[in-house]
Amino acid sequence: MNSDLESSTNGNSGCRVVVLISGGGTNLQALIDAAQQDTLAGAQLVGVLSNRPNAGGLARAAQVSIPSITLNHQDYASREAFDAAMLHNIDAWQPDLVVLAGFMRILTPEFVAHYEGRMINIHPSLLPKYPGLHTHARAIEAGDREHGATVHFVTTELDGGPAIVQASVPVHSDDTEAILAQRVQTVEHQIYPAAVAWFAQGLLTMRSGRAYMRGKLIGSTGLNWNESAP
Ligand code: GAR
Repeated sequence: MNSDLESSTNGNSGCRVVVLISGGGTNLQALIDAAQQDTLAGAQLVGVLSNRPNAGGLARAAQVSIPSITLNHQDYASREAFDAAMLHNIDAWQPDLVVLAGFMRILTPEFVAHYEGRMINIHPSLLPKYPGLHTHARAIEAGDREHGATVHFVTTELDGGPAIVQASVPVHSDDTEAILAQRVQTVEHQIYPAAVAWFAQGLLTMRSGRAYMRGKLIGSTGLNWNESAP
């Protein structure tokens, strides 16, 4: 790992992290595992919010006693009302960082503005390729030889905020959507804890819509995990 991507294994910044989920929560699990292995630079997972009552990630949080709350978006009259309720509940946990980990809701500009520079997302494609849904099927359909995942700061542009780190995987000719998704998730589970650790150490910042690592501007497709990871 080069010095740009180096992260402390035992920092103690006490960065408070709230994780938002909608589904199985394997990325949440990767963060839980990293915290337990002391590779999250002292970041603490202080709360998990789900918009789906049956999200599998809720059990993962319960298993390690992370407080969680479910706010079912269907119970709210508007996107604005739902986001306002989320904001109220998230802020009660006093987060330094909000982590979207398979959170499948479009966010209002007000919500995004409130967490500007302290909210990150992971997206299963090599952004700017394939924002939105069905990224694995689209990569296969296009005949791409490479696919992957990107961690980025969240802005009002869907899957369009400044990239932090990107990891690629090969696409094989006989890949199904499920097989490719699984290959991508393997690298998601590496780059997301790394990005959280960098943020917790104060190495990663967003200013004026741009992402910086150790004060140095990050290129438009993010740091390249494949070139720099151990
Ligand atoms: C992950 O693959 C993540 O990249 C994707 O949802 C999955 C959630 O899995 N996110 C998006 O598509 C957001 N646009 P998980 O619940 O097992 O972490």
